[in-house]
Amino acid sequence: MLQETVQSPDVRKGLAGVVVDYTAISKVNPETNSLLYRGYPVQELATKCSFEEVAYLLWNGELPNAQEFASLVAVERTGRALDPTVRAVMDSLPVTAHPMDVCRTAASVMGARHELTEDSSPEANLRKAVDLWAAMPAVVAYDQRRRLGQEVVEPRDDLDYSANFLWMTFGEEPAEDVVEAFNVSMILYAEHSFNASTFTGRVVTSSLSDLHSAVTAAIGALKGPLHGGANEAVMHTFDEIGIRPEESPEDAAARARAWMEDALAHKKKVMGFGHRVYKHGDSRVPTMKAALDKMIAHYGRPELLGLYNGLEQAMDEAKAIKPNLDYPAGPTYHLMGFDTQTFTPIFVASRITGWTAHIMEQLASNSLIRPLSEYNGHDQRSL
Ligand code: COA
Repeated sequence: MLQETVQSPDVRKGLAGVVVDYTAISKVNPETNSLLYRGYPVQELATKCSFEEVAYLLWNGELPNAQEFASLVAVERTGRALDPTVRAVMDSLPVTAHPMDVCRTAASVMGARHELTEDSSPEANLRKAVDLWAAMPAVVAYDQRRRLGQEVVEPRDDLDYSANFLWMTFGEEPAEDVVEAFNVSMILYAEHSFNASTFTGRVVTSSLSDLHSAVTAAIGALKGPLHGGANEAVMHTFDEIGIRPEESPEDAAARARAWMEDALAHKKKVMGFGHRVYKHGDSRVPTMKAALDKMIAHYGRPELLGLYNGLEQAMDEAKAIKPNLDYPAGPTYHLMGFDTQTFTPIFVASRITGWTAHIMEQLASNSLIRPLSEYNGHDQRSL
């Protein structure tokens, strides 16, 4: 007979509330709804910096001077093109494969092919982090294109990271405000302390495995709808309610409210709402919502704002649960023209910076991560 499951007071399911290590990379403060990257408020970084500068900050602890910035950008631009071997592996996968599976596979292939794979010195790890970061947009962009039966678009050296990402995905030079909104999303998604995927990366690293293995595992953790997959799930909610471009925002809001009331009456979890750490609102949402507002104006789609507001208000009134970053990010990427399935891989391209910063921090002061469990199976018995 199995023993009755008794939760000892020491067992913390989901590690909720457990502090497992120090980090100097970011600080999430749920009391003040604030998030700092290396001491700087993320809202300020998102509106004043490029994603390249923020990536440098996360890895090195300080923002780059002009020369440091130029050398990072030079390495990033030379690493943008899709590696033919990675492309061949991607082409061998069915177009029905989830883009997160494609991304995870590509990261693994890049690890197996990198000349520094087995070198985990700080210098080698930084180089591998930059190479992976530079290469991932081509994977994400080509995967969306191959699903649509389109060819690879070669990168352009005259565009920054965000503009080039959009260029490689759509083969058209993006408008400036679209690039700005995309840049904001990349900065906001870059880092968030010991979330599930970052912790996964740190666990893998703690066994002294290599950087690509840790990132590959982190991608697997990010795929789940309770974590990164929520931005994709948000769009499924919008689709289920029905997107009607000709509808007034008021009518769209009313339908969204009715959908939410029904979902909550059926005890559904609605993706894009709630957070393990923030209980009074996600610090990143106002900045991402401002970017979404700009995209709604740019593409002339006020009915999407109606859906957005209707769901948010109905959830607030019923349960006082606030949206998380995935909620405004989903419709923003939709407006830009990304496939819903591509949303979480975009998150990967951004979070590679945070993951790899944590991998390097973990190695600099490593201790094998190996928690204990409370046994609740059979008592000892004989065969
Ligand atoms: N929709 C409906 N109810 C929700 C909810 C949501 N998105 N998020 C939390 N709740 C409710 C739970 O049902 C639970 O209610 P109960 O006490 O009546 O059972 C209560 O709020 C606590 O939720 P719980 O899941 O225990 O909190 P958590 O801290 O473990 O969960 C999340 C955090 C993120 C996993 C959770 O909010 C969630 O599943 N959100 C949707 C997925 C998502 O958007 N993830 C992206 C996170 S950035």
